[in-house]
Order: sequence, then structure tokens, then C-alpha cells
Amino acid sequence: MAATRVLVVDDDLNIQRVLVFTLKQEGFEVHVASDGQAGVEMAAAIEPDLVLMDVAMPKLDGYAATQQIRAAEQGRRVPIIMLTAEADVEQRVRGLRAGADDDIVKPSHPRELIARIKALLARSGGGAAKKATAEVATLGQLCCFYGAKGGVGTTTMAINTAIALAGRLRRKTALFDANLQFGDERVFLDLGLDSTSIVNAIGEPDLDADLLKKLMVRHHSGIELLLAPPNPESADIVAERQRSDPASLSNVLNLLRRAYDYTIVDMAKTIDDFNLQLFDEADVIFVVMTADLSCLKNVRLVLETMDSLGYERGKIQLVLNRSNAYTGINVDNAESALGRKIDYQVINEYRGAISALNSGEPFMSSRPDGPLGQSVARFAQEIDGVLAAEAVAAR
Ligand SMILES: Nc1ncnc2c1ncn2[C@@H]1O[C@H](COP(=O)(O)OP(=O)(O)OP(=O)(O)O)[C@@H](O)[C@H]1O
Ligand SMILES: [Mg+2]
Repeated sequence: MAATRVLVVDDDLNIQRVLVFTLKQEGFEVHVASDGQAGVEMAAAIEPDLVLMDVAMPKLDGYAATQQIRAAEQGRRVPIIMLTAEADVEQRVRGLRAGADDDIVKPSHPRELIARIKALLARSGGGAAKKATAEVATLGQLCCFYGAKGGVGTTTMAINTAIALAGRLRRKTALFDANLQFGDERVFLDLGLDSTSIVNAIGEPDLDADLLKKLMVRHHSGIELLLAPPNPESADIVAERQRSDPASLSNVLNLLRRAYDYTIVDMAKTIDDFNLQLFDEADVIFVVMTADLSCLKNVRLVLETMDSLGYERGKIQLVLNRSNAYTGINVDNAESALGRKIDYQVINEYRGAISALNSGEPFMSSRPDGPLGQSVARFAQEIDGVLAAEAVAAR
């Protein structure tokens, strides 16, 4: 079999040397170009399986060279990794927008570089012969998780349900942290502040499926995340963008539906313009609650609000979390107080939940067969049964 051909475009001789050495050791066939212009010409001439592209170079910088390579491609799409000087989100997004598939901060450890190259080659089906594949229809279900009160376990439910859908049930699953000001998913999943987020997606005038995919952050459990803004100031940018142009949020949500079977949305508790649009566009809203008086009062208010918005009953599903925790109110009491049935129940397992929380590893990946893992897996399986059938019937 012919060796995988890698084109290195970098003007720094030392970096060239290190890259050529590392890549050759792995058995790659390596070609080098020392500026952007030469890189574009060489990409056309040798049709590499992968390109490593520096950003700052003479003649043509890495962004422009990437754009030109993309513009000249016919049918094939060579994977391009940008070599950036710093972990700056703006710079990364610029590269992704120009057409790069991934980026890596220089200097990087050879093992990391090789791992990223191999992952990208695997994703792109090996490189050279790759043709654009037809889009496979997804279930496209948008599921919002909304807590009737703070701290009832909305984030815990959203994350672990998403992992169960992606893992056991083999559904393509995205998790959108829509708790704009205080999103917890970076912490719960041990992800850094320098990752791309909804700020980059909603602010992008030409957002398409390809670019959105690159703004998603992959987690080893198999889910892909659209993260919350890294700080409250950038949360304002997102809220303002949605207010002035609701179509920007619709576009993000529609692209997510098209790319994933399930888009799980972890919402903040406020009822504001942003959340009202999420409610409107959702296929189903899971209202997460616990069995205590203030939560029951809030659930009644939420149900009334949803009624006044004209949503049909089935769009709102009640999920009783920590259902077997002693609160003095049992499921029957709760149902009669609400005048409707509780649709799903998830058990209480304080130890399982808390140890997962503090290790940055959700229980659905670290202890899927523990009591809590099994309980959420059952929930995921039940909702998948209903939602997958609905999606297929609607086609
Ligand atoms: N089924 C459960 N059994 C035991 N503990 C749980 C369960 N679900 C959630 N918890 C615990 O409850 C706490 C709050 O959970 P979580 O952060 O998911 O709630 P939240 O509703 O998203 O909160 P916030 O309002 O801050 O966004 C966490 O310590 C979590 O480990
Ligand atoms: Mg939360």
C-alpha cells in the first residue's frame, strides 16, 4: 500500500526539521513547502492525504493558502491542520473558517501531533480518495432539559442522557450548553476555557454544517458539545445576537438537527427571549423536577406558561429526578398536586452522582452499570423509543 502523503507548509526551518523527522518515523511520505504560495502549488501537484499548515508565513499566510487549496479542490477534500502559535479561540476560528479541519498549538508534543493526524485521517476516511459523501438523514430531534428549580439535576440529566444515547444506543448526539451565563458542562466534562462555543457559532454570518461541525467539541464518551460562552460577558453577546436576529439561533439549531439524531439542550432556569425561542423550536421539553413543595409550585407555573404559549401537552414531559429520595412527598402526591402524570423517574444516588461530579467524568461513562447509570440509561432508552418512532413517522 502506498504511504500516506503529508505536506508540511512552514517557513521555520527548525519546525520543518522536527515535523519531517516525526512524520517519517511514523512511516509517512513527507513533502515540504516553505511559504504559503509554494504550499498551494505543491498541494495541487502532489495531491497530499493531509496538510500541516503554519499560520504566519511570507508571500501567502496560512489562512489564505488554506482558502486557495479549498477553492482549487475538485471532488476531493484534503484534511488540513493549522499550526497556530497560541491557543486563541479567535485565531482558531479564523483557521476553521478558512477551511481547516483542526488546529494544533506549536510547539506540540510529537505524540499529540501524530494522534491528531491519525484521528483526522480516520475521520476523513484516509484522505486521498475521499469524495464528498451523501448526507445520511438523522432523527433530528431537539430535546430541551429545563429545571423547574436550580440544582434539581438538569445538567446531570442532560449530560448523562446524551452519553447514553451516543454510547449504548448509537445515536449521533450533540449536547448544547445553553446555560449562557453559568454553563457547567466545561467543568462537569473537564474541558478547558479555550474551546470554541456558541459565541463563535451564533456570531458567524456564514455558518454552515461544515463550520458548525468544527466548532463542536468532541468528548471521549462519543458526544459532541456546543459549549456555553466562557464568561458572562460573552453570554451577553449571544443573548444580544439572538434578540436582534432570532434567525441566527434558528440556523444553529437547524444545522444541529441535520447533523445529529439528538440535540440535547441544557437550559438555564430564566424565562427570557433566548429560552422562549428554544422552547418554541424544541420537539420535546423535559422539565426536570424533584418532589418538594417549591419545585411543585414551579412546575405548575411552567405548565401554565406552556399552556398559554399554546404548546400541546405531549411536548412537555415531566422527569422526576431523585425520585426515591425521602421528601415527605411521594409520586402519587406530586401527581395529584399537579393534576397530571409524572412521565419519567430517575433514582437518587448521592454517592454515584457526587463522585462523578468531582472527578470530571460523568457516571454514564465511568460507572454505567451502577444504580444511577442504569436508571438514566433506562430513561434514555424510553425516550429514544418514542422520539425515534416520531421522527421516522414524520419523514
Ligand atoms: N439522581 C441523582 N442522585 C443524586 N444526586 C444527584 C442526582 N442528580 C443530580 N444530583 C446532584 O445534584 C447536584 C446538582 O446537579 P446539577 O448541577 O446537575 O443540577 P442543575 O439543575 O443543573 O443545577 P443548576 O441550577 O446549578 O444548573 C449535583 O451535586 C449532582 O451530583
Ligand atoms: Mg445546570
